[in-house]
Amino acid sequence: MQIEQTLSIIKPNVIIKNSIGSIISRLEKAGLFIVASKMIKLNWEKAVSFYIEHKNKSFFEDLIHFISSSPIIVQVLEGYNAVQRNREIMGNTNPKLALSGTLRSDYSDSIVENSIHGSDSIISAKKEINFFFKTKEIFSRI
Ligand code: CMP
Repeated sequence: MQIEQTLSIIKPNVIIKNSIGSIISRLEKAGLFIVASKMIKLNWEKAVSFYIEHKNKSFFEDLIHFISSSPIIVQVLEGYNAVQRNREIMGNTNPKLALSGTLRSDYSDSIVENSIHGSDSIISAKKEINFFFKTKEIFSRI
């Protein structure tokens, strides 16, 4: 097992429901360490830039509207196999398909408002972490 870092975004529907702490608690209990964290609000352009790979999808405009609708929490999570571990805890992108007990099963309102984002590979994680954080803002703890 290797130590990895991955990017996590707690999405607007969780912020609005005041459930930030519950999500963070579940991530920590699952063995992931928060090594960087901040609350930010994405403007339309920055949201488009982050989700650019989905720009031709039918849901793109809804996704950008949602993710830029309120502050979000962006975090770097660190741990053994952190990318895959985080994806297991989050569950399927579609909350209707997410296993019971996963974050997306428990906190989502729809597939767009699916509560949390996590990098899907080590390569994406590096790219997404660099999108939001400078190296000096990340405090590795393992
Ligand atoms: P996320 O992990 O943030 O990555 C891209 C997001 O697009 C995804 O979570 C969902 O919020 C959204 N998404 C992915 N597939 C669909 C879909 N089929 N319909 C609507 N939204 C989607």
